[in-house]
Amino acid sequence: MNALNLNHEFQKTFTISTETRTFFAPGRINLIGEHTDYNGGHVFPASISFGTYAVVRKREDRIFRFCSLNFQDDGIIECELSNLAFNTDDGWANYPKGMIHHFQKAGYEITHGADILYYGNIPNGAGLSSSASIELVTGVLLEQIYQLQIDRITMAKIGQQVENEYMGVNSGIMDQFAIGLGKQDHAILLNCETLDFHYAPLQLNDHRIIIMNSNKQRTLAGSKYNERRAQCESALKELQSALPITSLGQLTKSSFDNHQQLITNELNRKRAKHAVYENARTLEALERLNEGDIISFGKLMNESHESLRQDYEVTGIELDTLVEAANQQQGVLGARMTGAGFGGCAIAIVEKDRIEDFKRNVNDLYSQKVGYSATFYTATIGNGAREIIAEEVL
Ligand code: GLA
Repeated sequence: MNALNLNHEFQKTFTISTETRTFFAPGRINLIGEHTDYNGGHVFPASISFGTYAVVRKREDRIFRFCSLNFQDDGIIECELSNLAFNTDDGWANYPKGMIHHFQKAGYEITHGADILYYGNIPNGAGLSSSASIELVTGVLLEQIYQLQIDRITMAKIGQQVENEYMGVNSGIMDQFAIGLGKQDHAILLNCETLDFHYAPLQLNDHRIIIMNSNKQRTLAGSKYNERRAQCESALKELQSALPITSLGQLTKSSFDNHQQLITNELNRKRAKHAVYENARTLEALERLNEGDIISFGKLMNESHESLRQDYEVTGIELDTLVEAANQQQGVLGARMTGAGFGGCAIAIVEKDRIEDFKRNVNDLYSQKVGYSATFYTATIGNGAREIIAEEVL
């Protein structure tokens, strides 16, 4: 389907033939730096070419109508500008509703409604941030059609508020930031405490990033995610009795090692260790990449997965099997889960001439062990959220 067809779908859905505008927000992968964002550490994500498209027409009244080609059974979901409260029955449409609500809360004036048709090609529940993609595509279209002056960092923060305050998931800023500020062929090194960031060219020479979807739907992801965050916060509190820190991201590995006995609960100690070590690994990974040492970069990816498996315990049999199978293949520099975990996707850096063998072999090993297939995509690193012209191909 291309953007022109989407326009046709819009006319069909809302039975109006009128001028529309089309917007796109990508999904993201994270190369390294997992579960570090809400701990004040660094992350290293990149926006991908899969994402969410939105076709919009402004309305004269104060009604919003949302429809998604991905959730056609839900039909058109309608709400008044004055009633944007979270409603379980509104399902996926709570994301755009939350965005509008939080724009208003932040003082941006939205005076009229709109009809919006969404279509996403990010696999659902795959941990590639389909929800942040819906948030950001909505943010960008609101900004454009209502001529609001919102810089991207503010927009990313509003997206995070939607997750935290509206949807009840205490996630960090990584996804919204990567999607709002992504740049073609670059990853973003982001300090999640200061929001200082810079773009690093992703020069992988003869290698490509392969996304491996475990096809395991994430279950209870929100509650386990919030639990991990609470464990880190509790570890931080105990460390603060002796250290003048405001986040785990401020600790070096050695200061953590020297003070870890202050954390009384063993599980919390493991969680905090991951956060501190992963942050250090992320900074090291950037250095290695800048030096062109992608072999060491791959090794750090493997270490990251191991820490997420053993200390943070967010991987599970599906992601572990994918990563293990990936590392048994020729031409693989490293592999790890990406995103929150508990199912979803892993990534691997694979020599480009071996990609077909890689996919076949990993899938064989995976389906033998897990009982169903994985899905593979070669990642293309694209730009962040933006308006697109109708001819731009999906
Ligand atoms: C999810 C969250 C992010 C981040 C990752 C884990 O994607 O939305 O904020 O915490 O998990 O790194």
